[in-house]
Amino acid sequence: MYKQLDSEAIPPPPRRQYRPKLPVSIITTILFILGIQFVILPRYVYQMSPSEMRLTQFQLDALDEGLRKCQADRTPPIQYPVTTASSRSNARWNPSTGQNDTIILRNVTLFDGEKIVENAVDIVFKKGIIESVSDAAQSILIPGANVFDLEGKYVTPGLVDMHSHHLTNTWPLLSSTSDTNEMNPAFGPLTPFVRIVDSLKAYDYATTVIASGGVTTSLILPGSANIMGGEAVVVKNVLKSGDNEEFVVEELLLEHGEPVENRRRYMKMACGENPRRVYKHTRMGNAYIFRKQMERAKELKDKQDTWCLKAAALKENGNVAAISSFLDSASKDESATDYLEFDSSIAMLRGKVGINVHCYEPEDFEDMIKHSKEFGFRIQAFHHALSAWQVPEMIKASGENITIATFSEFGFYKKEAYEANLWAGKILSDHGVPIAYKSDHVEPETNAKYLLFQAATGHSFHVPELLALQSVTSVPAQSMQIDHRVGYARPGYDADLVVWDSHPLLVGATALQVYIDGKPTLDPKKVEESLSSVQVTSSKNLSAPIMRKTVSAEIKEELCSKVEKAGTKFTVTGIRNSYLEGHAAAAAASDSLTMVVDSGKILCFDSSSKCASMSADSPIITLENGHVLPGLTAVSAQLGLAEITTDSATSDGELKKTAGADPKHIVYAKYGVHLEGRGFARAKIGGVTRSITAPMSEGFTSGVSTGIKTSGKKTILNGGIFQDDVAVHFSIGQESKGTDSLPTISSEISTLREIIVENEKKDNIYGKAANGTIPLVVHADNEYDIMQLIKIKQEYPQLNLVIYGGYGSPLVAKELAEAKIPVILTANRGAPAAFEAKNSLPGPPLSRSPAAVLTEAGVKYALSIFGEAETSHIHNIPIEAGWAAKYAGLSAKQAVNLVSRNVEDIMGLDVEETKRDFVVWEGNPLEFGASVVLGVDGEDGMVSMCWPESN
Ligand SMILES: *[C@@H]1O[C@H](CO)[C@@H](O)[C@H](O)[C@H]1NC(C)=O
Ligand SMILES: *[C@@H]1O[C@H](CO)[C@@H](O)[C@H](O)[C@H]1NC(C)=O
Ligand SMILES: *[C@@H]1O[C@H](CO)[C@@H](O)[C@H](O)[C@H]1NC(C)=O
Ligand SMILES: *[C@@H]1O[C@H](CO)[C@@H](O)[C@H](O)[C@H]1NC(C)=O
Ligand SMILES: *[C@@H]1O[C@H](CO)[C@@H](O)[C@H](O)[C@H]1NC(C)=O
Repeated sequence: MYKQLDSEAIPPPPRRQYRPKLPVSIITTILFILGIQFVILPRYVYQMSPSEMRLTQFQLDALDEGLRKCQADRTPPIQYPVTTASSRSNARWNPSTGQNDTIILRNVTLFDGEKIVENAVDIVFKKGIIESVSDAAQSILIPGANVFDLEGKYVTPGLVDMHSHHLTNTWPLLSSTSDTNEMNPAFGPLTPFVRIVDSLKAYDYATTVIASGGVTTSLILPGSANIMGGEAVVVKNVLKSGDNEEFVVEELLLEHGEPVENRRRYMKMACGENPRRVYKHTRMGNAYIFRKQMERAKELKDKQDTWCLKAAALKENGNVAAISSFLDSASKDESATDYLEFDSSIAMLRGKVGINVHCYEPEDFEDMIKHSKEFGFRIQAFHHALSAWQVPEMIKASGENITIATFSEFGFYKKEAYEANLWAGKILSDHGVPIAYKSDHVEPETNAKYLLFQAATGHSFHVPELLALQSVTSVPAQSMQIDHRVGYARPGYDADLVVWDSHPLLVGATALQVYIDGKPTLDPKKVEESLSSVQVTSSKNLSAPIMRKTVSAEIKEELCSKVEKAGTKFTVTGIRNSYLEGHAAAAAASDSLTMVVDSGKILCFDSSSKCASMSADSPIITLENGHVLPGLTAVSAQLGLAEITTDSATSDGELKKTAGADPKHIVYAKYGVHLEGRGFARAKIGGVTRSITAPMSEGFTSGVSTGIKTSGKKTILNGGIFQDDVAVHFSIGQESKGTDSLPTISSEISTLREIIVENEKKDNIYGKAANGTIPLVVHADNEYDIMQLIKIKQEYPQLNLVIYGGYGSPLVAKELAEAKIPVILTANRGAPAAFEAKNSLPGPPLSRSPAAVLTEAGVKYALSIFGEAETSHIHNIPIEAGWAAKYAGLSAKQAVNLVSRNVEDIMGLDVEETKRDFVVWEGNPLEFGASVVLGVDGEDGMVSMCWPESN
């Protein structure tokens, strides 16, 4: 939610205003001291007669109701028995629109929330509940049941995401439906009294997209602007599931059908930068404000408890006078609104509210744990928590079994996200700290649809297979204390089940069907269409993908010290595939290839026997499943220019929307790049050896991109910039629309036209773009904006026009192909989130993938990554290619080209095949779990990276 919080324009809140106390009658005092706001029936008001010595019916009722509330306050939320299916039902199920037939999923490979069941099973479910899971060999028979033979496919429980904001902020995103953070200054940084359920919109299309990724249950949280942000609520990701199939919020709730008083409650809180920035306090200010709130809550809780003790004693032994006087004299200090305001904080102290804290940094965890001890509440989970890996023992020592709900790779978007570590999941789980991957959904890059992708990434960085699967099923369910209903696929659990087309941790694992409360939610025709280009071979392999190979520091040191020397020779054996031109491409099934490299030149690339004579006396690197790829090229709006996205002290800066388009003031990235940082470390482990980096800009004009090397071994003085000026960049669309200058998209288009006409004959950088000497790259997502660009290209065919971004490009794919306009697609796994992208493709299993449509239309395209903190994802560039390849039916070579040769061609880089960077991998980089062994710089022949590491 950092995007929403970026605004520095949020006014500081006025001092907290205390409302004058309402005049309080005895009745309201008694009732409200108990936190009961709604049970008064008007007729009692007339019966009330405080002076009567006989207890009125009302007084008796008030005492009983009070005692009932005292009792309820002490009772934990109900856990339902789950031992047998018949012992419970799914309260969400209804007879008119709920699952109406008994379904058998036959011959399933089942991950049941804990483990992968040894033998294939048959799963029977009925009325939204799993009835039985039995050995498939027994072939269970139930007359009238609807049977689906899955032939051994994977089934998991519906995934559980413990951090999402969909429904509070609907797709397409509009400011008028952004109800996530209660930031009105009248309230200030403490809003525990608001409830996210009051913000939900039961028509959010994102819900359907999320469910299509297998995510069936989500904890919907208020945003993180406030120290206490309000109460959260758990939903199932299915719209119109009620009797009348209307958009009803109540029917979204996991606990729909359960009595309101039995439902679980959750509090969202936040530490660190957000409340600090929004309310202009320091961390010490934040701590005091929070402690003061809890102290007051404690005081009120004590008053409630005292009342309860006395009331119980009086009920047992008291005489009429004593009771009447007790009810009369009950505290008049607190008003109804006090109890409305403090109810959830008091409930926190009673252990009735699960506490979920947005908290990143070691000092913030420590402080919050200290507060939890001071006031006696338990923290259910720290969210985001990107530094938690630095202090697992401190977190464990709290004794609270705090879950770390985190991202597997997203980071660097602000200081408190700067310690993001790809190995965090492994480190935390090695220390026995429960981890749950979570989305933070509303933007495309936090799209909850791809929750499982995070578990898969975590797994590639050594989170064991079962823990990775648990991290998106049973762990979040346990953390949220809903593991009696969801997170497992066992008899008695809600029938939320996902059928996968492959092992769930493989690149591009797709849900073929998602059952929620027993009802199928995907349209099989659409699923089939979305997968129409997929070659089915891979889906038969039931094994988990491999994890990245690592080597000890000694082995690394020994190898790297040798090969990194100038003029060195080395031999690599065990290569199965190569994507370099002019050499052997693939090993025969029985053999593998050997490569001998001398001073960066490939002397021999053939069978081991043929290369044997040349490999003498050189260090030998022995691989099992070696792959050789060209060095990949990213197109970035950040790498080398910003270390921490939102901290300008770490970046070159960002061109404002008011920047003109005068060629005299044009910005050149080559003057601002630094060739180091954490983004570079991630680029290297992704085999990305070069980046075309454009200046950062909020508006229409961006400037001139430069070509840099990512090895970190070069500076800007000795060849780190391989090409000074690559392309001229502009941006057209809602994001870049200005306020004063270029306030409309139409004015952006006409300015672009003017720039072309006015500079066509001029000797400046715009002149080069106008006459097609260098590419004119325009960031555009909306299909109508792209059509405007097609018209420009039709009128000025000399232009070397490139679309960057391209959410809407599949919608005009034929026209782009005809106009010969290439696309650098950053919407590979995009989403119809922004209004201007509302027609863009959500991707399989709901639609074909963008890459499939572009491929079919014959558009020349490449892939890159764009967005907030894009450098934290940059190592996934080859994985994106693997993902695209699956749905577009591309060969591995074509996939590799999407992130290498196609980028070079489109951006006009002139790379000689013999001077190409190449990278040797262990494993297939189009799949999770491959690692870079070494990279060679094609220009100087030096080994530019050797077993690079991300941290
Ligand atoms: C069950 O529901 C499905 C879809 O919701 C519907 O097509 C079918 O006719 C229903 N069957 C019965 C027996 O009501
Ligand atoms: C389950 O499916 C697998 C793969 O198709 C098949 O080999 C096996 O015989 C099936 N088992 C049963 C019990 O049908
Ligand atoms: C800690 O929490 C995790 C996940 O919620 C759960 O699996 C584990 O059993 C808990 N451990 C203890 C000791 O309660
Ligand atoms: C199945 O996949 C695993 C992991 O990717 C791989 O190690 C194994 O060789 C594959 N097995 C087959 C038969 O392809
Ligand atoms: C394009 O414009 C640049 C800058 O004015 C000039 O140097 C170059 O010769 C022009 N090329 C063509 C093909 O007109």
